[in-house]
Amino acid sequence: MKNIETTLLHGGIDGDSFTGAVNVPIYQTSTYRQAGLGENTGWEYSRTGNPTRAALEALIADLEGGVAGFAFASGMAATSTVLSLFNKGDRIIISSNVYGGTFRVLDKVFKNFGIEYSIEDTTNLETLESKITSDVKALFIESPANPLLTVTDIAAVAEIAKRRGILTIVDNTFMTPYLQRPLELGADIVVHSATKYLGGHSDLVAGLAVVKDKSIAERLAFTQNATGAVLGPFDSFLLIRGIKTLSVRLDRHTDNALHIARYLEKLEAVKKVYYPGLPTAQGYEINKKQAKNGGAMISFELQEKYDIRKFFKALRLVSLAESLGGVESLVCHPATMTHASIPKDIRDKVGITDGLIRLSVGIEKVDDIIVDIVAAIKAAEA
Ligand SMILES: Cc1ncc(COP(=O)(O)O)c(C=O)c1O
Repeated sequence: MKNIETTLLHGGIDGDSFTGAVNVPIYQTSTYRQAGLGENTGWEYSRTGNPTRAALEALIADLEGGVAGFAFASGMAATSTVLSLFNKGDRIIISSNVYGGTFRVLDKVFKNFGIEYSIEDTTNLETLESKITSDVKALFIESPANPLLTVTDIAAVAEIAKRRGILTIVDNTFMTPYLQRPLELGADIVVHSATKYLGGHSDLVAGLAVVKDKSIAERLAFTQNATGAVLGPFDSFLLIRGIKTLSVRLDRHTDNALHIARYLEKLEAVKKVYYPGLPTAQGYEINKKQAKNGGAMISFELQEKYDIRKFFKALRLVSLAESLGGVESLVCHPATMTHASIPKDIRDKVGITDGLIRLSVGIEKVDDIIVDIVAAIKAAEA
């Protein structure tokens, strides 16, 4: 593989061999003319395959180091299609603070089809191994996990899974293949909400999955076509375009994040900072081993006397919004937004408190982001 900075631009299918266009064209078509019965060009119907989507799928497979990539209409469509590989009676173990939507689809949809789940602390390898009963068929982890940025040792979890003959699935949304490549660490399947850093501009919703094994690739290709939540050609084009600049964006995102995390850590108003790039963070050493840096997501809590409603209201530059990973800084309140679908007792148990603030650090000048946050903290002083 070339250096990943180069693969981001030239991986997969580079440009258009037919015309020499440096960009993959948008094949905005649902179907393809066939010369005669059984004589097609290799393209039959765009749910099954579309050249723009295929270029994106080849690109993400190259970037994650897998045998095949799959593009979906959203991150949840990618996760749901992967979960459709399992059968009635199977159980999936999920990390204790995965994205709320992952919990919700297991709890409210897949459970109805007889697929069970358990929530476990995947950072604790000893207890994790003891939770793998004979019905467990996969471990589904995020590292760093959303929203507490807890770090799970991906290689160690994958090793346990392999020994027990089950799959490791990693949601790599927060890191992207530029910062972390789970398949190289032993995982079997990677999923992404490409809506976030891969797209990078808060202008599309998309999901991706990459697999390491040919037989799983065949099953996922079948399920992708059968269930049909595919990404359209225009969004595939936008995503290829976003991915080209991933390394320069993330370098700036993560420099800014480290700077802000260090700044917040020193503020008296801040009770706790969660950022895997700080040496004081849980899992700092493991994250350093498996990822390029701490990423660009920070969560923090203010001291009790601060009113977080006033904090959110007072922000001027940083937008209060769902989502993350765009070039602009966004802030959210996990308890009532991204993780509202998780019941309060479970949220409290895993540490997603009502005072938790999650910041997606953008690529603005870092000083401007800090000025905005400091002013909002001041306004939040009761
Ligand atoms: C870590 C993570 N995984 C999956 C998803 C779901 O992705 P989408 O919103 O594209 O369906 C999200 C969305 O916020 C996320 O943060």
